Amino acid sequence: MTRHYSSLVGWGHYAPENVVTNDDLSEIVDTTDEWIRARSGIERRHFVSPDQATSDLCIEAGRRALDRAGVAPEDVGLVLVATSSPDYLTPPVSSQVQHGLGCANAGAMTLVVGCTGFVYGLVTADQFIQTGAYETILLIGAEVISKNLDMTDRTTCVLFGDGAGAVVLQATDRPCGVRSFELGSDGSQAEALIAPSPGTRNPVSQYAIDHRTHYLRMDGRAVFKFATRAMTESLQRVMDKAALGVDDVDLFIPHQANARIIEYAAEQLQLPPEKVVMNVAEYGNTSAATIPIALSEALDAGRAEAGGTLAMVGFGAGLTWAACLFDLGPLALAPPDSGADRDRQPAPESVIDDRGVVEGLIA
Ligand code: UT7
Repeated sequence: MTRHYSSLVGWGHYAPENVVTNDDLSEIVDTTDEWIRARSGIERRHFVSPDQATSDLCIEAGRRALDRAGVAPEDVGLVLVATSSPDYLTPPVSSQVQHGLGCANAGAMTLVVGCTGFVYGLVTADQFIQTGAYETILLIGAEVISKNLDMTDRTTCVLFGDGAGAVVLQATDRPCGVRSFELGSDGSQAEALIAPSPGTRNPVSQYAIDHRTHYLRMDGRAVFKFATRAMTESLQRVMDKAALGVDDVDLFIPHQANARIIEYAAEQLQLPPEKVVMNVAEYGNTSAATIPIALSEALDAGRAEAGGTLAMVGFGAGLTWAACLFDLGPLALAPPDSGADRDRQPAPESVIDDRGVVEGLIA
């Protein structure tokens, strides 16, 4: 019987044009560029404009990945979108993305697993391909977090950003794809990272609005403590499961929440810095989008080659964690006008208007 493996044949990412610097934020809340850089490694982030929503980012990144792979939208069997910031609570954003991309023959599913969503999605997609259920899957990690940030809360508003990254996976009989994985959850720490409403526990109400419960809240220290342990231990376990060591892995792509968390894990596991992808300075924490954006940038830069082994690891709301080792098959060659050149957006002027409000945010 033919075995099916997942080959990563296309990738792409998109970040909104509006760039918000640390200095921009220091005009709104009591913070400084020095504090944000020193505590998180973040220098700037990209925020959507008022008329942009998560599906728009997904469609842009998804189109780039499909172009890169040379795959027609009609040939996609399943669209998977990992996000915690959908356009609407219902319908699922994955269906808007499926329609917007013209994936007329695809099923569509949204995975809500916070910052670990992309790794959960990659493992899910790989399983569907291994069973022979699907030939071609488009997986996207995307977030618009800026619209759920309390711009009066300096402990959260300086850390997050918006963006999307996508990959196309295709069935092949050549061994590649997910080699080992671990999906974890500790729901006892749910309140460490939470947007309490709207939802069935706290539906929209005047009380919820008055108490700003619709914004993201985080116990940063608790998440930090959890993250440092979850990252190192789960990465070690997936390497052990595959009987591989650090030297056997070509590139480590961790969740980009805080440079200090990544550096801690790299030090603990003795990862060579050149093998660790870090772009948190440019985008901040884009939750489910950080790993696919970092992956897409790394592949654009030729940091991993066909046949290489990638390690991905994430942590976040839930609290959850997820890690996997992924073997690249033969990578698709970029067609000349694939969209890869459009990925880097020119940095526009500050988006703070003269009321001191960042464009696109409910102040
Ligand atoms: O994707 C998963 C989501 N989240 C994360 O991964 C976040 C994990 N946590 C972290 O990255 C870090 O805990 C933070 C970056 C959030 C905070 O860094 P920290 O070194 O843990 O700082 P802290 O929370 O211990 O705060 C130190 C001080 C406090 O003042 P006091 O109590 O020492 O007087 C804060 O009030 O820094 C203050 N502070 C700020 N000062 C300037 C908190 N936020 C800011 C700010 N600017 N933006």
